[in-house]
Amino acid sequence: MNQGKRVGIIGAGNVGATVAYSLAMLGSCHEIILRDNKIDVAKGKALDMSQAAAAVRSHTIVSVAEEMSELTNCDVVVVTAGSPRLPGMSRDDLLMINANITKEVIEGIAKYSPDSIIIMVSNPLDAMTYVALRESGFERSRVIGMAGILDSSRMASFIQEKLGYGAGQIRASVMGGHGDDMVPLPRYSTVAGVPITDILTAHEIDEIVMRTRNGGAEIVGHLKTGSAYYAPARSTTIMVEAILKDTKQIHPCAVFLEGEYGHSDVVSGVPVMLGANGAEKIIEVTLDDTEKEMFKNSCESVRTLIDTLNKKKFFNKGE
Ligand code: LAC
Repeated sequence: MNQGKRVGIIGAGNVGATVAYSLAMLGSCHEIILRDNKIDVAKGKALDMSQAAAAVRSHTIVSVAEEMSELTNCDVVVVTAGSPRLPGMSRDDLLMINANITKEVIEGIAKYSPDSIIIMVSNPLDAMTYVALRESGFERSRVIGMAGILDSSRMASFIQEKLGYGAGQIRASVMGGHGDDMVPLPRYSTVAGVPITDILTAHEIDEIVMRTRNGGAEIVGHLKTGSAYYAPARSTTIMVEAILKDTKQIHPCAVFLEGEYGHSDVVSGVPVMLGANGAEKIIEVTLDDTEKEMFKNSCESVRTLIDTLNKKKFFNKGE
């Protein structure tokens, strides 16, 4: 059914390789092309994954692009290239290093896979999605950042831990940027339809909100030499599949806002409908005053990063 679909993955580190592995196991696409400056590492991982695909009789082929010019005609390109977070680093510390990497990579994608949909994963996520949009010149529906699915999944798992039940039945909702002031939404988080506000105390919910905001750093603190990758990768795979299969599912994703939620010229996490054309629709949910304020703060943090890039005359292309 998905014969012929090509997915490019730039960056064959932990996140990129795990995205590739998930897609290969699911058989979601015909071909996965890994691109990494460490060509031998990419080759080794591609061979390993092709063999895993053969073991499960998946038709997905995993190959390596030694040059960006081999990453042609992809339907979706996932960008994970960049420096990961290390202990003590905020996602924002990665701004300039990863902005330069992103710029270079996006130039190649725009040239060799001009009809693709780009999924950004590199941090700081919202700012990198903005860079990808500006530098690709693609319409905003084709440049989408992965973060909301990850942050919502983290919140769901913390809710389960706090309750001691409900695993697999929890729908948590997180909007805003993938930063320290992301916006977890307890009002829109449920266990089998039961609002968590009915089964947890305000204090317990506060703890869950704090832990969600700190979810990435908690894992960095344990791993010490890198950051999370299973949940980030699986969250990315959900987006790739929704696009390849044109499911029209709603997921929280980072997109460029043009007046939605009262904000413009900034990227933030909001519920979007994913389909063959990318982020086909932005859904506007009703926020109360406190939630609106938190969302505004989160947008302002992302805007500060974009301002830094503008001040450094980073962008090649105009608005
Ligand atoms: C995380 C970092 C990598 O959330 O952004 O795991």
